[in-house]
Amino acid sequence: MANQKSPGSAVDRARPIDHQKAHEIQAYGHMIHRPIALSESAAQQSVENLNQVLADTITLRDLYKKHHWQTAGPTFHQLHLLFDAHYEEQNELVDMIAERIQMLGGVTIAMAPDVAETTIIPRAPKGREEVPVQVSRLLHAHEIVLEEARSMARQAAASGDDGTNDLLVSDVVRGNEKQVWFLSEHVVDVPLVRAD
Ligand SMILES: [Fe+2]
Repeated sequence: MANQKSPGSAVDRARPIDHQKAHEIQAYGHMIHRPIALSESAAQQSVENLNQVLADTITLRDLYKKHHWQTAGPTFHQLHLLFDAHYEEQNELVDMIAERIQMLGGVTIAMAPDVAETTIIPRAPKGREEVPVQVSRLLHAHEIVLEEARSMARQAAASGDDGTNDLLVSDVVRGNEKQVWFLSEHVVDVPLVRAD
């Protein structure tokens, strides 16, 4: 009988079905329509912009972890902790931006090689750098994100995508501005012990 199960079938059913392959269900750059009362052109423009700011935010996040591990000198402990705190905040931004892309019907950029070819933040060397160089590199990366995020926020507002505008202004812009404040005070040349 064709449908009769062999004595070993109970064991076979518990076996994980691994090495499965199939075509993608949605290609990168393609949109699906969601009923969120937003035009497809507005959603697509937001998705393209958000993928750029996502690639740059992932890069900035990873730059913080690199500096967290590699920092040196008398401010080691303080900067080790500050860099990690900023890493965690950037990681939250990464998740918020990526999930907004999916909710708009787009496909989020995710993997390191794809991020590397998309980001406009200059590539950092593999080796360790002095603290003032680490801070300068981070400040430059923040400024790139801030400039694009403000411009993208204005585009989102103009196309009626208020949710993306809010994310960019309330989370990305304000969050990055605050981190720039905390960072930039570390390269102000004031005396440590004796006043000038
Ligand atoms: Fe750590």
